[in-house]
Amino acid sequence: MQNSTTIGFIGAGNMAYALISGLVDSDFSTKNIKVSDTDKALLSLRKEEFNLEIFTDNAALATKCDVIVLAVKPQVLSLVCNDLKDNLKSGSLIVSIAAGVRSHDIDRWLGLNKAIVRTMPNTPALLGKGVTGMFANENTSDEQKSLAEKILKSVSHCLWVEDENMLDAVTALSGSGPAYLFLMMESMAKAGAALGLDEDTAQTLSIQTALGASMMADQSVDSLHELRAKVTSPNGTTQAAIESFQDQSFEMMVAHAMRAAFDRAKEIGSELADE
Ligand SMILES: NC(=O)c1ccc[n+]([C@@H]2O[C@H](COP(=O)([O-])OP(=O)(O)OC[C@H]3O[C@@H](n4cnc5c(N)ncnc54)[C@H](OP(=O)(O)O)[C@@H]3O)[C@@H](O)[C@H]2O)c1
Repeated sequence: MQNSTTIGFIGAGNMAYALISGLVDSDFSTKNIKVSDTDKALLSLRKEEFNLEIFTDNAALATKCDVIVLAVKPQVLSLVCNDLKDNLKSGSLIVSIAAGVRSHDIDRWLGLNKAIVRTMPNTPALLGKGVTGMFANENTSDEQKSLAEKILKSVSHCLWVEDENMLDAVTALSGSGPAYLFLMMESMAKAGAALGLDEDTAQTLSIQTALGASMMADQSVDSLHELRAKVTSPNGTTQAAIESFQDQSFEMMVAHAMRAAFDRAKEIGSELADE
């Protein structure tokens, strides 16, 4: 990313905060970051935190930026695009982090033929530990793709999909995934308490196990399947538990749940198209 590239955030909320922090940590100058929001108190806070230029007028911000990051709730995106439509710099790149809203709807709201990268980050991005699925429309150059990736890379691991429909699969896996893992951790903590551990101990054991296992999976050269096999001694405790999971079709339950999330992501995309 060139040091002169100017990035404007529409929406100064949680995700904008995470991304701006990530950019600052990767030595991007706050002189080239601008932010717009309807909430003046939040804007003052962002100015205090980062010493960046703030706007209450989305159109005024747009005229000054090479990249616009759409960091508002999906429901207000069409309204925001209407503000931006006649005020974008020529050749500017639009990066949307709004869940569910399709690139062709954003393009339609912006007046067509814009370079748009649609992304699906997940909540751990707030800690700089997210993972983001990314899709670029046909108007986006390789240079613009790499620019968008650099922004999202500051808070997450980034992966591209060629087919925008696959962002619904990304939503079903990593977008909603933290909640599946919280459910698993919650269930393990409850089951540990039912076996006699006090609740705090059970919760700590559950969270630290998830953290350690995730780090092992991330750092190991073994596949997830191999890692599981390695900790499952024949006739041992883990095997007893895994067989119990399998008897109750654990994999099938996960597949059904993710199909439900995938179908709902498609439905939400259609609903948002008419906002
Ligand atoms: N948080 C996550 O973990 C996460 C993960 C993946 C994707 N996302 C996506 O990221 C986007 C932002 O999420 P967030 O959690 O950062 O939301 P947020 O904290 O609510 O921030 C959005 C900000 O936009 C402001 N806003 C509303 N209308 C506006 C307008 N017309 N012009 C300018 N600013 C306006 C809001 O003000 P008011 O509060 O006054 O309305 C709010 O300050 C969402 O689309 C969400 O789907 C979030």
